[in-house]
Amino acid sequence: MTKKQIKNICCIGAGYVGGPTMAVMAQKCPHIKVNVVDMNEQRIADWNDSDLNKLPIYEPGLAEVVDEARGRNLFFSTSIEKAIDEAEVIFISVNTPTKTYGVGKGMAADLKYIELCARQIASVAKDDKIIVEKSTLPVRTAEAIKTILDSTGKGVQFDILSSPEFLAEGTAIQDLTRPDRFLIGGEQSQSGEEAVQALVDVYSNWVPRENIVTTRVWSSELSKLTANAFLAQRVSSINAISALCEKTGADVDEVANAIGKDSRIGAKFLKSSIGFGGSCFQKDILNLVYLCRHFNLPEVAYYWEQVIKMNDYQKHRFAKMIIDSLFNTVSGKKIAFLGWAFKKDTNDSRESAAIYVADELLQDRAEIHVYDPKVTAEHIYADLEYLQEHRVGQYVEQGEKMSMEEIRNLVTVHSSAYEAMKAAHAIAILTEWDEFKTYNWQQVYNDMLKPAFVFDGRNIAPKEEMNEIGFEVYSVGRGK
Ligand code: NAD
Ligand code: UGA
Repeated sequence: MTKKQIKNICCIGAGYVGGPTMAVMAQKCPHIKVNVVDMNEQRIADWNDSDLNKLPIYEPGLAEVVDEARGRNLFFSTSIEKAIDEAEVIFISVNTPTKTYGVGKGMAADLKYIELCARQIASVAKDDKIIVEKSTLPVRTAEAIKTILDSTGKGVQFDILSSPEFLAEGTAIQDLTRPDRFLIGGEQSQSGEEAVQALVDVYSNWVPRENIVTTRVWSSELSKLTANAFLAQRVSSINAISALCEKTGADVDEVANAIGKDSRIGAKFLKSSIGFGGSCFQKDILNLVYLCRHFNLPEVAYYWEQVIKMNDYQKHRFAKMIIDSLFNTVSGKKIAFLGWAFKKDTNDSRESAAIYVADELLQDRAEIHVYDPKVTAEHIYADLEYLQEHRVGQYVEQGEKMSMEEIRNLVTVHSSAYEAMKAAHAIAILTEWDEFKTYNWQQVYNDMLKPAFVFDGRNIAPKEEMNEIGFEVYSVGRGK
């Protein structure tokens, strides 16, 4: 028996998780009113823009889902208190970045936005609510949220569930409509079990019951950090092997294919690259490492820390490969960057490897000409500015802080890839956008300075064809 049938849901946070997740939920549950709220007025205005090309997030298939549900049972607004008041279930999908100050600086998750949500809910709620942690959180955060909520003295019953999100950007709509699993962690009390059942009933509108996993709260919170740590570990593992491939003449794609045929290893997530980016892998592993240290498990902390160290090394190795191959200096040389997003099919560039590669080349005063199909110039400069302000990371710390004036003089953003590549000394492929595979490479070659170099950080360029044209092609894990 469920406690009640849910008719009104609120989601705090209209970002990369809150927006797509709630859009799909509203599409699949037309009988439930879904209010997505955010304190960022511009973001909400963009979600409400009648021009679907102006949605704040680029994600294949998202515009169609928003178009179907928006104004019917899906609403975006800044009226946070009203949405909290009306809702029976409140999802918290706010950002949980790495702390940049105080205790746990550079490691722990910053929970100030989560705490603010809990306080807002506590001050507004007049009737019983189910609170769902959708953000990625350290183990036992539900306990802290409950302490804040239970301190109101209003006699309101709050049930806290953990239901972390596993979507990947670029495939979010597919991941949300046909998830490998949805996870719900709840308390083992009658009221906790009823809350879990209420959420199972919501998800069951489109997800088969066997794909909905239920656990205790702490297991659910820890499963999310563990899943990201395992995924990132695979990328670092294949990238470690890519370095050995370059020394030995083995081909990393062939190695990945050969080991991936073993059903115990599996074929996915074995693509060697310039290193993983995105807002979550590094942040979540740092959080895991911090938790291990907190619980006095230094060996476990050290083990996971290596995944990040290998990733930093891979980005550095790629930048070094460019500088070494261009006769030990890139000063004054035009380097075209194809791609800035941390992966294809997203406009998100948070923690993109491109930022770190650019920084190492800028330290040597390269002239960088960027083309990305979806990331705006404003975001590219903001990424570089953020890096200048913080300059954390083992290789970044070795460089010097540069002024934004200097950076704007050295970095040009183009709306045409051909313009970015014209008269360049070298091309660096940073993101695996499909359109990069379709370029007229003969024309590109004709318009470049010679010798014309290509540094393929994603192994997507047609290497043999390009060699025949005359390019010098270097690929990660495949060498020259
Ligand atoms: P985001 O920065 O894109 O969005 C978070 C939004 O929350 C922002 O728009 C911000 O304005 C809003 N916000 C913060 N505090 C608020 C408050 N008190 N009231 C109202 N609005 C508030 O972040 P995201 O990428 O959507 O990530 C959210 C969480 O989901 C993180 O914990 C992240 O680790 C996790 N996650 C992200 C992904 C992903 O692909 N991006 C996937 C799975 C899980
Ligand atoms: C990742 C996880 O895949 C999601 O399950 C999780 O929900 C999400 O993090 C999160 O918690 O934020 P995402 O970062 O969006 O999703 O994208 P991924 O496809 O995982 O790629 C992450 C990075 O690893 C990208 O830079 C990608 O290029 C790189 N990568 C991925 C590789 O270099 N090789 C691979 O084989 C796979």
